[in-house]
Amino acid sequence: MLDSAFCAHLCLVFISAEEILRAFRRLLQRTPVYGVYKALGHYPDYWYWILRGRPTRSPHLLKQRVVLEYGAKFGLKTLVETGTYYGEMVAAVKTRFDRIYSIEFVPALAERATRKFARDTHVRIVCGDSRVVLPEVLALLPGPALFWLDAGYYGWTGGSGDQQRLSAELEMILSHPFPHVVLLDDARCLNGQNGMLTLREVKSYIESKFPARSVTVEYDVMRIVLRGAGEGA
Ligand SMILES: C[S@@+](CC[C@H](N)C(=O)[O-])C[C@H]1O[C@@H](n2cnc3c(N)ncnc32)[C@H](O)[C@@H]1O
Repeated sequence: MLDSAFCAHLCLVFISAEEILRAFRRLLQRTPVYGVYKALGHYPDYWYWILRGRPTRSPHLLKQRVVLEYGAKFGLKTLVETGTYYGEMVAAVKTRFDRIYSIEFVPALAERATRKFARDTHVRIVCGDSRVVLPEVLALLPGPALFWLDAGYYGWTGGSGDQQRLSAELEMILSHPFPHVVLLDDARCLNGQNGMLTLREVKSYIESKFPARSVTVEYDVMRIVLRGAGEGA
């Protein structure tokens, strides 16, 4: 009896601690230091992921490393990101690219990121739906670029849930005259549910429509590259 009362009390303590943490995070989100708070969390997040036996959903730090690795491997100096959010990826890799375009749908987030990177003249935050503004960004590119596609393709609070957006964007990028390299985050979400394509469908669509490209997935990131390119680099 005492045991169950104690457990119930412990549960309540945990729940309220979690609520306090959530409220604290919401408060912090409204301040300019939220980016620093999130950046500080990347290392504990990474070690926690290792401790849990490296589950499919990988931490942001690993994704930052993948973006840097592909930029270096393919000699790409331009990065295009869809979905800026709090600008964590831009902040983490901005010194390694000569030009960065990051597209954000939510005006408040785009304005915040524009302020955050005001001194980084090589960073441009573009406000809009990535499907709509991508042609404008593609037209600005002087050569091949690295694309980090991460704009909540599998549903995002307040988003339109347009299931065709991902394939429309992939089509635009891969039909463009330059041999761009594409990284797509959250590949595990291509699971055929809620009208989403499966990973296998996306891979076979890309490899049949664009036979010069190969598609692999590692650490929850789909990687679309020109066959044979970057090998031995
Ligand atoms: C998972 S977060 C992106 C994280 C960020 N790329 C990073 O690596 O730190 C997804 C972001 O995509 C934005 N987003 C959702 N739909 C979008 C769209 N159609 N066009 C542009 N951005 C979109 C959301 O507002 C959100 O900020």
